[in-house]
Amino acid sequence: MKINVLSKFDSNQDALVLGLFEEDKGNYSSLSKQLAQELAEEDRNKHFTRKFGQKYATRMPYLNYKKVIVLGLGKKKEITLERLRKLLGGAVRYVKGNNFPGLTTNIPALLSKVEGLSAEMIGRATAEGLILANYKFIKYLAKDKQEKNKSLASVSIQWDGTSPAFVKGLKTGRVIAESSNFVKDLVNESASVATSVYMEKQARKVASKHGKVKIKVLGKQELQKLGMGLMLGVNQGSEKPPRLIFLEYSGGGKEKPIALVGKGITFDSGGYNLKPTRYIEDMKTDMAGSAAVLGTIKVAAELGIKKNIIGVMAMCENMVSGHAQRPGDIVRAYNGLTVEIGNTDAEGRLVLADALSYTEKKYHPEVMIDLATLTGACVVALGNFTAAVISRDDELIASLKAVGETSGDRIWPLPFYEEFHDAMDADIADLNNIAVKKYGAGSITAGVFLSKFVNEKTKWAHLDIAGSAYWEYAGPYNAKGATGSGVRALSYYLLDN
Ligand code: BES
Ligand code: MN
Ligand code: ZN
Repeated sequence: MKINVLSKFDSNQDALVLGLFEEDKGNYSSLSKQLAQELAEEDRNKHFTRKFGQKYATRMPYLNYKKVIVLGLGKKKEITLERLRKLLGGAVRYVKGNNFPGLTTNIPALLSKVEGLSAEMIGRATAEGLILANYKFIKYLAKDKQEKNKSLASVSIQWDGTSPAFVKGLKTGRVIAESSNFVKDLVNESASVATSVYMEKQARKVASKHGKVKIKVLGKQELQKLGMGLMLGVNQGSEKPPRLIFLEYSGGGKEKPIALVGKGITFDSGGYNLKPTRYIEDMKTDMAGSAAVLGTIKVAAELGIKKNIIGVMAMCENMVSGHAQRPGDIVRAYNGLTVEIGNTDAEGRLVLADALSYTEKKYHPEVMIDLATLTGACVVALGNFTAAVISRDDELIASLKAVGETSGDRIWPLPFYEEFHDAMDADIADLNNIAVKKYGAGSITAGVFLSKFVNEKTKWAHLDIAGSAYWEYAGPYNAKGATGSGVRALSYYLLDN
């Protein structure tokens, strides 16, 4: 999608999208006389109150546009970057549905006059709302359906005065949103295609495009040599080989790196604790954490972020076969701890455990953040609108929560009380991979398991994206399916901290 910034509305577009704040009632001086009259009429009839998200579509023969869409912006003091994404995303989805090739709008400029929002951040959110909403996974649709779902070619934004900060924000937002869409492609892709080796290819592509990204890949034999018994145990029932992928991005000189570690289960059948119908169908998405890590490295490389970042993708497949791991098996982790397999479906924590302890030992990161579609309990607790963060470090929690808010890729903390810390203790091994029932709080106990594989001194946070990574319904600026969750929050974290 091309984004043009102009001083006027673009009369070459088919759709005009206007915003109106509640406070600006009756003030249409900048609009055409006829449109002003029509809106005043609506005011009198009280059909259109300008409440946030209210929409009013009309055809005005006296204007050059095929359609005019008027959006309520709500109250000025309630406007946020996230509301901007929703407004623009909604406009894109509407105009797309009408099969117009583009639109012109003044909404970002209206927000720039509200106190507290910088032009740069408005630019970021503008590009994100537009580009995220312009995405749909159409690869497997017939040609005519692909044509129907065609993306908008261009958007023209009316902006008053000089615009360098706004344009800078647009550029940043574009990189973040396009990378999120790339992640959505990976997560929406069929598990028969998006295997560990396929993900390795994707990672190699990103690395070869950017000089500052080096890639190292460990295969089955290397993992065996290193003694990564937890990761290998999970992959044991699969015909496909595992991959532990490291992307080393250097933009921060001699500083210690930030490590991002992603769960990459290319399909989670549950193993012998097989998932039943209604729980198994979407499990191709269980690699969303690793995809988000790759997407974030892509953002860092394209924006030249001034930090050193290690992206870790822990790829394997949780399947059943004569070779598969059994409930009751005891396996040894890379860090030496033994784990009794209480449930083969609690596989994500096993794979992450080896990935985390190895990453910590090899790279001595300043901060380590893992991302995982880890627990169904997280979806129960928080739903789809937010990821959970679990950490011992209150400062890290606060920064992640803050970037969750500004990026709209929300993050909300769960407690890590000491009462939970022995929840994963086992009888005949160091740990069990499931908790004793009395603890409840499945997302927190999963975090406790991971914590046994990270040094207490390391600043570490675990993000559970089980609910936020994949929606079974469309969102305000997202098609049904993968969301790219993690990319925006982590990109904002790397840019703004
Ligand atoms: N990949 C699932 C978690 C999940 C569930 C992600 C729903 C997205 C949507 C994970 O591997 C899993 O199966 N977790 C189990 C853990 C349990 C066996 C302790 C769960 O949440 O049921
Ligand atoms: Mn599972
Ligand atoms: Zn899983």
